[in-house]
Amino acid sequence: MEKTFIMIKPDGVRRGLMGEIIGRIERKGFKITKAKLFKPNVELVENHYMEHREKDFFNELVNFIAEDLVMAMKVEGEAVIEVMRLMIGHRDFKVASPGTIRGDFANTITQNIIHGSDSLESAKRELNLWFEEF
Ligand code: PPS
Repeated sequence: MEKTFIMIKPDGVRRGLMGEIIGRIERKGFKITKAKLFKPNVELVENHYMEHREKDFFNELVNFIAEDLVMAMKVEGEAVIEVMRLMIGHRDFKVASPGTIRGDFANTITQNIIHGSDSLESAKRELNLWFEEF
C-alpha cells in the first residue's frame, strides 16, 4: 500500500484542527499508521524543507514550523500521495478550493495548516526523516 508523510503545522494544532483533519483522513478511508505530536528542532525542519533553502521565505517557514507542536503522521492507502494533496488543496489560501483543508481553514501563505508529500520520492525521504524508517 502507498504511504505518505502528513504534518499538521503549528497553526493547525493551535487552532484545534487536529480532530477535523484526522477525521477527514479517516473518513476518506486512509489509515494513520504512525503519529507523533512534538516540537521539531530547527535542524529537522531545515532538512525537511532542504529543497527550498534558496527561497526568500525559507527562514520564515523553518522558524514557524520549529516554534511549536506539530502532528507528524504516516498515512497509508491507494494513491494516498496524490489524493491527500487534493484533499489539502493549493498552498496559496487565496487559490485553494472550498472543500479542501486549506480552502476551508487557511488564511495566510506561511501558516497554511498542513503539509503532504508531493511524490513517492519525497514521501520516502520525509517518512525516513521524521520517523527514522519507512
Ligand atoms: S515553490 O515556490 O513553488 O517552490 O513553492 P512550493 O513548492 O509550492 O512550496 C514549498 C513550501 O513552501 C511553502 N511556501 C511558503 N512558506 C512561507 N512563505 C511563503 N511565501 C511560501 N510559499 C510557499 C509552501 O506551503 C510549501 O510548504 P509545504 O509544507 O510543502 O506546504
